[in-house]
Amino acid sequence: MSEHPSAAGSVRRVGNRAPSGQPDPTTHAETGHSRTILLTGSQGRIGTALRRLLPELGWRLRTFDRAVGADVVGELTDAGALDAAMAGVEAVVHLAGQPTEAPWPTIRESNIDGCFELFEAARRAGVRRVVFASSNHAAGFTPRGEGELPPETPPRPDTLYGVSKVFGEALGRYYRDRYGFTVACLRIGTFGDRPRDHRALATWLSPEDCAQLVDRCLRSPELGYAVIWGVSANSERWWSLANPVGYRPSSNAADSQPADPAVLPTDALVGGEFTTPEYGIDQIAAKGERA
Ligand SMILES: NC(=O)c1ccc[n+]([C@@H]2O[C@H](COP(=O)([O-])OP(=O)(O)OC[C@H]3O[C@@H](n4cnc5c(N)ncnc54)[C@H](O)[C@@H]3O)[C@@H](O)[C@H]2O)c1
Repeated sequence: MSEHPSAAGSVRRVGNRAPSGQPDPTTHAETGHSRTILLTGSQGRIGTALRRLLPELGWRLRTFDRAVGADVVGELTDAGALDAAMAGVEAVVHLAGQPTEAPWPTIRESNIDGCFELFEAARRAGVRRVVFASSNHAAGFTPRGEGELPPETPPRPDTLYGVSKVFGEALGRYYRDRYGFTVACLRIGTFGDRPRDHRALATWLSPEDCAQLVDRCLRSPELGYAVIWGVSANSERWWSLANPVGYRPSSNAADSQPADPAVLPTDALVGGEFTTPEYGIDQIAAKGERA
C-alpha cells in the first residue's frame, strides 16, 4: 500500500487543522495513526494529484485502479477486487470511471454498473462516507443566467456521460436516505495545473483546491448529502461556491494566461463544447467505430 505511516506527525500539513477541542478525523484517537481512505481512479489525472496532496493533509491512501501501479488493480465491476480494496478504510474518494463522452457500453460499464458496485462494496464493508467525482456535465445544458448557479442546480445532462454522473448523484442520495451514508458529489469543472482556454477561466479547478475540497468533504461533521461545484475562486466564475463543508478555494484562473483565449458561444452553457452536436450519441458512436 502506498501509505504514509508517519503522516500524523511528520508531514507538512497544509492548513485544515481540526479546530481546537475537536478530534482530528485524519488520526485515530487511541493510536495517533493516520486513518486510511480508499482512492479509486488513483492513476488518472486527478488521482495522481491527490496521491501527492492528500497525504500532506494527513490521510493515508489505499489506491484502486484498473491501471498498473495502484495498490489494488482491478475493475469497478469486480466485486471481489473492490472488497479487497475497501477492507479497513474509513471513507472512499471515488474518481474511477469513464471521464468523458463515449459509446453507451463504455459509460454503462464504468459509470453505471461500476458506480453501483462501488457503493455496494462500501455498504458491505461498513464504509459510510463517499466523495463522488461528479461533473459539471450533469447540468451541462444549463445556460448562464443572472447571478451565480446554486449548487442544487437541477440535472440537465449534456451527454450520456452527464447522465451517468446524474445517476451517481442519485445513487449517493439513495445511499444517504436508505443507509445513512455521508455523501458529497463534486460537480468538477475543469481540473488541471492551469486554465487552458477561455471557458476554463470560469470553470478551472486547481489541484490544490481540489485536494482541499476533498479533504473538507472527508472531515466535515456537518456533511450529510451535498452537491458542490468543484471550482476554484476564479474571477470569471459563475457557479456558486456555497457548500456545507467549509471549502474556501484560493486559486484564481485570472492569474494565468490560457493558451487558447478564443471565446465560444458554448461558454455560456455549463457544459461548454459537450453541448455541441459533435457530442450526440450517433456522432460519438461513429467516432468510436473509426477509432
Ligand atoms: N478532469 C476533469 O476536469 C474532470 C471534470 C469533471 C469530472 N471529472 C471526473 O473525475 C474523475 C477523474 O477524472 P480524471 O480526469 O482524473 O480521469 P482519468 O481518465 O485521468 O482517470 C480515471 C481513472 O479511472 C480508471 N478507471 C476508469 N474506468 C475504470 C474501471 N472500470 N475500473 C477501474 N478503474 C477505472 C482509469 O484507469 C484512470 O486511471 C472521473 O470520474 C471524471 O468523470 C473530471
